[in-house]
This record gives sequence, C-alpha cells and structure tokens, in this order.
Amino acid sequence: MGPQTQPQDWQPDSWRRRPARQQPEYPDPAALESVLRQLRQLPPLVSSYEIENLKSQLAAAARGERFLLQGGDCSETFADCESSIIAAKLKILLQMSLLIVHDARIPVIRVGRFAGQYAKPRSADTEIRNGRALPVYRGDLVNRPNFDPRDRTPDPELLLRGYERAGLTINFIRALIDGGFADLHHPENWTLSFARATPVAEAYQERVRAVADAIGFIETLTGGVSIPQLQRVDFFTSHEGLHLSYEQALTRQVPRRPGWYNLGTHFPWIGNRTRDPDGAHVEYFRGIRNPVAVKIGAPITPDELLALCERLDPHQEPGRLALITRFGADEVVSGLPPLIETLQKRGRRVLWVCDPMHGNTEITPAGVKTRRFERILRELELTAQILQDAGLPLGGVHFELSGEDVTECIGGACGLTEADLTRAYRSPVDPRLNYEQSLEMALHLARLLQRRTRTSVSFAPRSGPGPAAPHAASPAHSDPS
Ligand code: PEP
Ligand code: CO
Repeated sequence: MGPQTQPQDWQPDSWRRRPARQQPEYPDPAALESVLRQLRQLPPLVSSYEIENLKSQLAAAARGERFLLQGGDCSETFADCESSIIAAKLKILLQMSLLIVHDARIPVIRVGRFAGQYAKPRSADTEIRNGRALPVYRGDLVNRPNFDPRDRTPDPELLLRGYERAGLTINFIRALIDGGFADLHHPENWTLSFARATPVAEAYQERVRAVADAIGFIETLTGGVSIPQLQRVDFFTSHEGLHLSYEQALTRQVPRRPGWYNLGTHFPWIGNRTRDPDGAHVEYFRGIRNPVAVKIGAPITPDELLALCERLDPHQEPGRLALITRFGADEVVSGLPPLIETLQKRGRRVLWVCDPMHGNTEITPAGVKTRRFERILRELELTAQILQDAGLPLGGVHFELSGEDVTECIGGACGLTEADLTRAYRSPVDPRLNYEQSLEMALHLARLLQRRTRTSVSFAPRSGPGPAAPHAASPAHSDPS
C-alpha cells in the first residue's frame, strides 16, 4: 500500500470536530491533558510489523483460508491483571484453536479481547440508586464501580493505569509464548486446574492425543527435526476503541511505513453504539492503518453499512475491514441477508465475523443478566448458513468467554441453570461462556466449519456433541452494558 491510502484530510485529532458518543466528562481538563501528554510519550504496546502481519492473515480469513477466533472478557478489570487469570485466558483460546485446527483443518488466527479492553459503552450517562444519581461506571479505564461520588468521577490517572496494565498483560503473554507455552508438543501446559472429567473434556483430550500422534508421525519423517510452527503461535490483541483521547494518544507514525498506526492494540473495533458513519469514532478509525472491525446489529440499514464501508475502507485493502455481526438468534435471519446483498452488489469483500453473544442477552426473573448457550449456538449456525447461501465464508467468531469456572451463561452440556448463576458470577458487565461452555462451543464451531473445509481426512476423530435443538424463542434484550 502506498502513502496515497492515507486520507489527506485526516489527523489523529480530526475526530474532535465530530460528535463523539460515550466519552466521559472529566471535571479537570488540565489533569486530563497532563495524562494524555504522558501517554503520548510512553512506548507503543505493539508494532506496525505485527499489525501488518495480522492484516495479511485477516485477508486470508476473508478468502476462507484462515479463521479468526477472537475472545475474552466483556470488560477486563485492573484487579484481574494477575498471572493465573491471564494464563487461563490464553489456555482456553489455545484449547479452542486446537479443536478448530484439528477438526476443521483450517489455520486459526488467535485474537484476545484483552490487554486494553477496559472501556465500556453504557446505555445511560447516570445511574440512579435510591433517588441518588451518579455518573455510570464506564469501565476501569474511566472510573470505579463502587457507587460513591468519588469513585464514579472520571479520573484521568486511570488512563495511565490502563495503559500500564495493558502493557503488563501483553508482556506476560509474549513471555509465555516465547518460552514455549503454546508449543503443540506440550498441550498439558494449557490444562486448567479445575477441568473436570466431562464428555467435552474427553472429546478435547482425544484431539490432544490425535495431534500428539500426528506430530510424532511428522517428526519421524523429518528425522526428529521439529517444525517451528508447532512451537509457537501468533497472538494478537484487540479492544473496543471507545475512549478516543486514549486511542489518539497511542496513535503513532513509524519510521519505515507511511501513515498512522494505533500502537495500543493490533485490531481495534468500533462498537454497535458508536458506529455512526458521521460520528467521531468512524472519523478516528478511518485514518489508522490497523485492520479494524465494526460491530453491526439492529437497527443498521444497508445504506448506513455501505457508508461505513466506504469511509473505513475506501481502497478495499485486503484484510482491512471486518464486520462483526450481532443480531441475536431471532433477528439474524431478517437482519443479515439484506446487508450481505448490498455489499455483494457493490463488489465489496469484507471479513464476516459472528458475535453470537450481544444480541442474545436477557435478564432472568431474578434480575440477572445472562445468555443461553443454545441461543448463542443457534445464531452461530444461522449466520454460517446465511453466509454460505450467499457463497461467502464465515471468517471468524467473536465470543465473550472466560478461561475460568464462572457461572454466567445458562446451558450447554455442563447443564448450568438459572439457579447456578449466583454461584460464580464474576463479570462486572456481560455474561461470558465459562471454560467448559467455550470448549463445547469450539467443538460445534469446528463441526460447522468442517462442512466447508473438509473434503477428505486421513483420520477421523469422534464427532463432538450433536447439534443442539434450536431454543424456543425467548425475548432477546438488547445489551445494556
Ligand atoms: C461489547 O462487545 O462488549 C459490546 C458492548 O458490544 P456491542 O458494541 O456489539 O454492543
Ligand atoms: Co459485552
């Protein structure tokens, strides 16, 4: 790509001339400016080389030659920046990707919703409790969850704490991977301490044994010479690029490439609430060279989507734009096809990614926010089918999940019920699939992908749990996070 792809009329701060939704109001602008000045001087968290590498892998995913697995917490918290929790996130993504690679025979791009996923869009600016109104909690990057005026006042120092924790997280992940943590010779590294002997865990172990056999076979042929790709994997980071002053401060030029990169993360996305084609977020995103994603769900119109694509990817650069669909199991059949058709008529190729979480959020009678495994799976299946009918590959998935034994989503083979939700509900915002539900989802996903990737196989693993029956329609509440 040449420098001509850099928009002439764009600067890292040109978003400031547009209406910016979901931005906190800081009581002391001078304190904010001082923090942003510091942030601008601190080193980047990722490099343009990694970003360009990811972009070319995403281009392959758009062609159906790779598959994007993106997942992590709805909202990371500063308190969870600790070794066992970070390692558990890595472990579950590695286990899921092993299942997908093995069963569906497609290379997986692993992208964490981590190392910077600290800012949340909210439905209201204030929260009222017992007649008292305070600023809403917008994530650890902005303020503190405790319902107290001091804690809820946006504090610019938290931007520095968030940058530091993102850096600590990414440093630990890089160290683990460089040290051999992702080595396929040692999948026992990824075992989670609480893993139970369930049919899903057994299905996973079966794939681990099959992979060990296959590696042994290849290394016998190569005379014991190991293949480097078995020993390490690429891991990339992503977060919602919501807090524009923070994102701007990490937007940099690099010596040997044209244009500007957001070097705070590899793959930022625009949320469903901030994707106005004329708004500040789209203005900021259109000028950075990273691959970018946009969440799309009701009530987007085909014209709006087209305007978004033209603004964010005017030159149709391979790997540049991913659309993450999040309609809900009930809405996807009517919502998605007209969008696909519009882009196809214009000859636009994007990476289609399914987020089956955010359109399937509901509140239980006891007032707990949850999601049902069966409805999540249903949206995934329907999305894959709709894309396939249009002759397009499902290029990736976007999950809110945890490597821990939490009880936030209902259903799946582990049989979590509404009554279990109180046992280990830890998410401060949206409910995540737990470790077992995530593995089970990966088995189903691999089965969906197998249909398109697998023409002949040399050894057939036992198939995972059968397809879940479509869940009877239950109201899909829009996500109030
Ligand atoms: C999210 O990803 O946590 C989120 C708020 O999603 P969306 O923008 O799709 O509602
Ligand atoms: Co969420």
